[in-house]
Amino acid sequence: MKRKLLCFMLLLISFKPKVIGQAETRPTWATETLEQKDKRMEWWRDARFGLFIHWGLYSVPARHEWVKSREMISDKDYNKYFDAFNPDLYDPVQWAKQAKAAGMKYIVITTKHHEGFCLWDSKVTDYRATNTPARRDLLKQLVDACRAEGLRIGFYYSLIDWHHPDFTIDQLHPLREDKSALALNSNRDMSKYRQYLRDQLTELLTQYGKIDELFLDYSYPGTNGKGAKDWDASNLLKMIRKLQPQIIVNDRLDLSQTDWGWDYKTPEQFMPVEWPTLNGLKVPWETCQTFSGSWGYNRDEYSWKSAHQLVSMLVETVSKGGNLLLNVGPTARGEFDSRAIERLAAIGNWMKYNNRAIYGCTQAPKEFTKPDNCFLTYNPQLNRLYIHIIEWPFKSLHLPNYKGKIKFAQLLQDGSEISFDEEIKPGSHTTETAASNDVILHLPVQRPVSEMPVIEVFLK
Ligand code: GLC
Repeated sequence: MKRKLLCFMLLLISFKPKVIGQAETRPTWATETLEQKDKRMEWWRDARFGLFIHWGLYSVPARHEWVKSREMISDKDYNKYFDAFNPDLYDPVQWAKQAKAAGMKYIVITTKHHEGFCLWDSKVTDYRATNTPARRDLLKQLVDACRAEGLRIGFYYSLIDWHHPDFTIDQLHPLREDKSALALNSNRDMSKYRQYLRDQLTELLTQYGKIDELFLDYSYPGTNGKGAKDWDASNLLKMIRKLQPQIIVNDRLDLSQTDWGWDYKTPEQFMPVEWPTLNGLKVPWETCQTFSGSWGYNRDEYSWKSAHQLVSMLVETVSKGGNLLLNVGPTARGEFDSRAIERLAAIGNWMKYNNRAIYGCTQAPKEFTKPDNCFLTYNPQLNRLYIHIIEWPFKSLHLPNYKGKIKFAQLLQDGSEISFDEEIKPGSHTTETAASNDVILHLPVQRPVSEMPVIEVFLK
């Protein structure tokens, strides 16, 4: 009897269905070790700061890149934006220069967003820039400009497509409430769409030279959604890795619970409280953020972040070991919004003096506690700690338990010495008691003119 039970249990185990999606098993092609992955991602980790660009037909309605879905616009009605798209002021060299001057090391651009429109001369669709009044491959020009400026290049590519006739109508689709379209949904053939994904990604990854990052967007598995199965995610990734072995791929293929189906996490529109982890391990991450809420150009949005907030966001991201991909939505005529230009310039001015506290930096070792109103970043190569002072204190900055660890300190923006005391000497007008292991930095009373003054600390 016992043996029978055992046999039955073994049988059950051997019939365990192969789970697709989140718990997908490691495919044979995924052989890279953690060390190899670390090496592959080195440039990206050191870069820390990039520019995201959302540009497509939605820059014409200028009221959010999701306008087609939000307002449930039909293809026919959306066509007026295709006919009007004529970015006569587009100057990709200028874009690349603006990104570089802001201190960014790479640009990631939407080759195709959810609306389905392609910025490049795709041979598998007519829905492309070369057929609009723009009449040229807009992507190619930007790729060339980035290379000329020494910037790395990343492609955003939407897995979602609200224009392709075989992409089935689901909960997000603009036609989700159109009864006659829904009736024909079963005629839509996702296997044809899967082939389209493969064809388009092949074009993008073979015709533009080396591509450094791929940002696929996005999966929403479950009822009336789409996920790994719909994209044939594992095989798609296999193809991507084959075409561009060095490429760094984000985590939106619905393979994020595997340890091989993504390279980095992509929290967006919020600041993680701490370095994101998976199964207790800190993972590479890049947060993408907007200037004002929308990703595409939104003329009437007034929730623009200040330069100080944006610098703060960059510093906080690096202080938690992440990258910041800051987004601009160019106008339909092909220029950055003046409000974006202003902020990029302010960030650039801060980066000019303080980029040492960003490039190659990461979270500070645990032994260094964050002083009040500060962020800490750390360069392991140089063994230097950077204290970013959010709110300038009056004369003294207390560093808890830093005694014996500091060789020298300076204000980073002008290299001027910041003296410090390792003993607190209580005087007649103080109530301070000598806290034995603290260090006090002596700051000038006046806050230096900077979005965020930084003290560079040479550690012993
Ligand atoms: C979301 C949105 C999209 C934007 C993206 C950026 O997935 O759908 O509009 O492109 O986030 O990460």
